[in-house]
Amino acid sequence: MTRNSSWLLKRYPTGMPGPDDFLLEDLPAPAAGPGELLVRTLWLSVDPYMRGRISPAKNYAAGLKIGDVMRGGGVGEVLQSESPGFKAGDIVQADDFGWQPMTVISGKTAMALDPAAAPVQASLGCLGMPGLTAYFSLLDVGSPKEGETVLISAASGAVGQIAGQIARIRKLDPVAVAGSDAKLAWCRSIGYRAGVNHRTAADLADAVAAACPQGVDVFIDNTAGPIHDAAMSSLNLFGRVVIVGTVALADRFGQPDLGLRHLRRILVTRARIQGFLLDDFVQSYVAARAQLLAWYRQGLLETREDISSGIDTAPHAFIRMLKGENFGKQLVKL
Ligand SMILES: NC(=O)c1ccc[n+]([C@@H]2O[C@H](COP(=O)([O-])OP(=O)(O)OC[C@H]3O[C@@H](n4cnc5c(N)ncnc54)[C@H](OP(=O)(O)O)[C@@H]3O)[C@@H](O)[C@H]2O)c1
Repeated sequence: MTRNSSWLLKRYPTGMPGPDDFLLEDLPAPAAGPGELLVRTLWLSVDPYMRGRISPAKNYAAGLKIGDVMRGGGVGEVLQSESPGFKAGDIVQADDFGWQPMTVISGKTAMALDPAAAPVQASLGCLGMPGLTAYFSLLDVGSPKEGETVLISAASGAVGQIAGQIARIRKLDPVAVAGSDAKLAWCRSIGYRAGVNHRTAADLADAVAAACPQGVDVFIDNTAGPIHDAAMSSLNLFGRVVIVGTVALADRFGQPDLGLRHLRRILVTRARIQGFLLDDFVQSYVAARAQLLAWYRQGLLETREDISSGIDTAPHAFIRMLKGENFGKQLVKL
């Protein structure tokens, strides 16, 4: 019988997840039931939200149980279809791939891809969940006006690289926060005007103020933590702060984000802080995807991927992304 090397959740990590929190096991090859697809995995996406899924802490979506196969976004080739609308050989993307070479996914949420339109793994990056997150967090929640300064943290990452380029396309003034000078140099090459290295700045608030001489009108907060505090001190009148993610808290998930309180600053600036969850924009995905694809095909969206090879590397890829060692959208290629 063909075996299926699968990563299981061995225990809930305390602090930063480590390799020992996962277990590689040979499972029997799966088969698709009614409404399902059996898929050969080609690409897996590792994303910060998975930190929440491997914690018992309350979250916006249900988490994994100990012993469950790790799950996340993926792209694969259909081997067996028990779902109308799909056939063997189709290339599909879905959010419920197992970390395994062969996986069963629901036909309800799978999306057929056209490999001629764009590289299929772009459906996990600029044309998928991270691209849509960049699009809606900036354009809908951030409500930017032409010329405004938009500060974006994790700026070279999956979401940040697209947010910065949408800001450039929309004639905004994008400023990057990233964790290395190489990342910042790349951010400038795709249209960020300036950048702040949050790992080397002597005083992060001063560095943000120097990079944003007109102040910050929109802050796309992908990290929380000290970057959040630094950005808040440059917030302009009627500024908009979009809380997209808290990846800087990956090593203390579920604990309070201790830092400065900004209530006086918010009162004085009459700024708005709003949480963001992509699922709230599901009605608008089709139009946003079409716009992202159009920009991509016009050569207006550059993408950078950080690719790890082989199912064995999945936990390593996930952990290095949480630690900020990825440079671009972190993927695993099988
Ligand atoms: N709310 C939603 O619906 C939604 C949807 C998608 C993504 N998100 C959120 O968006 C954020 C970005 O996601 P992504 O997929 O694009 O990840 P990513 O930016 O590709 O990778 C994570 C990045 O976070 C930065 N980072 C890690 N640890 C950090 C720390 N201690 N302090 C500061 N920065 C740190 C690192 O960049 P640097 O070293 O360059 O700073 C790292 O490259 C995440 O917080 C994610 O949860 C939210």
